[in-house]
Formats: sequence, structure tokens, C-alpha cells
Amino acid sequence: MRYALISDLHANLPALRAVDADIAGTDAGATYHLGDLVGYAPWPDESVALIAERGIAGVAGNYDSTVATDYKHCGCRYEDPRQEELSHVSYDWTRRHVSPRTKAFLGGLPFRIDLLPDGGHLAGPRVVLVHATPTLNTVYWSEDRPDEFCLKMAAHAGLKPGDVIAFGHTHVPWHREVDGIHFLNTGSVGRPKDGDWRAGYVLLEVAKGRVSVEFRRVEYDLDEAVRGIRASDLPDDFAEFLRTGGSPDRRTG
Ligand SMILES: [Fe+2]
Repeated sequence: MRYALISDLHANLPALRAVDADIAGTDAGATYHLGDLVGYAPWPDESVALIAERGIAGVAGNYDSTVATDYKHCGCRYEDPRQEELSHVSYDWTRRHVSPRTKAFLGGLPFRIDLLPDGGHLAGPRVVLVHATPTLNTVYWSEDRPDEFCLKMAAHAGLKPGDVIAFGHTHVPWHREVDGIHFLNTGSVGRPKDGDWRAGYVLLEVAKGRVSVEFRRVEYDLDEAVRGIRASDLPDDFAEFLRTGGSPDRRTG
């Protein structure tokens, strides 16, 4: 079975459409999202509607669960006052613009999904999907975390060698194997932060004791996204962020 895993769409409808079309040209048998469907771009309702229309199941990102529960902030990390201010603007904007239907959809997302590619009748490999970590959807699990951190999270998730845990939240893709367990950050569809503006997602195959990961990058109509942000009352900074694929000094969200 090949899975397409998409994360951190962040209301970037042009990017989501491009990834949706790219997945249609692959042999992926199922698509799942890893959360953060909304925030930072002006198409939250349209993005959620497309996910719902395609029947794409997925988990609740911090943005989804905070919008759904009217939490005081989006649970994002801020590294400087300007970024903190921008995050608040995005969060307030998103809360004011999501429809009741979208809010209900976000509130109904599960925290975690378990896939058993060989079927639940066999003790085969398990693929666990979460937004950030198996304990909280706000913790940043970046590639520089030590092996011990990964194994601690694997223990929380109840993983064994051969299993996979996939997550997003940092918007920077990476994959590493520790003690036979695969740790996979799928990157971001709608707001990459690794300096590559193209939408990112992953094709994951788990078969016959082998795990294979393909990181894909897809060009999309960036100008449409930029125009949409500029035409909205969201800060123009978010358009510039998309254009540059984020930059190392702008790590929020
Ligand atoms: Fe995110």
C-alpha cells in the first residue's frame, strides 16, 4: 500500500489543488492529512471543503484544535515580537472567517490515526499519524532532536521496530530510522519553511518489512496565493513568506 501524506495546508488553496492533482497522477491508494488545514492564508473554508469532498481523513493540528475550541492562541511558537504579532493577526482573522461548518469539521478531527497496511488481522507494521507528537500537537519535532527524544515519543505511541510515525508541524521535511522505527516529518503543503516555495508532501510505502519514503515537491500557482493574501486583510508578510519558502529566521506556525 502506498499512502500520500499531506500536512500543514494552512488554507493555501492553490497549493492544495496542485498537490491534489499530483497525487491523482501517482499510484497512492489512500491520502491522509496530518492537520493544520487553516491559518495564514485566505481560503480556510475552501480548503476544508476540498478535503471533505475528497473524503481525506486526517488528524487535528494545533491550528485546527485551537480554532475549533476558541482557545486563546493558536499554539504556535514565536521567536520574535513581530512574528508573535503576525501569528495573532492570522489566528484572529481565521477565527473570524471560518464558517460554523468548517469549525465543526475541525473540531471533529481525531488526535491520532493508526494504519495497519497488512490488515488488523496480522501483527504487521503500524503507521501512526499525528500532527506534531503522540502527546501534544504543539511540540516541534525537528530533525535536530536527539535519538532519545525520538525513542521516547515512540514509547508513548507504543511503536515497535518496523513501525512508522508520521507528523508535520515544523514545515521542514525529514526522515530518520532509529532502532528500526521510522520517524517521518512530511513537511508542509501550504507554508514550507525549508527555503523551497513548492508545496511538499510524502508518498509512503510499507510492504514486506520495507519502508520507503518519497518526498515530493510540486509547483503551484504562487501568484494566485500571493494575490489572494494581498487582496485580503491578512498581512502581506504571509505572501512574502510563501514566495521565499520561509526563511530560517522566520520560524513560526
Ligand atoms: Fe503548521
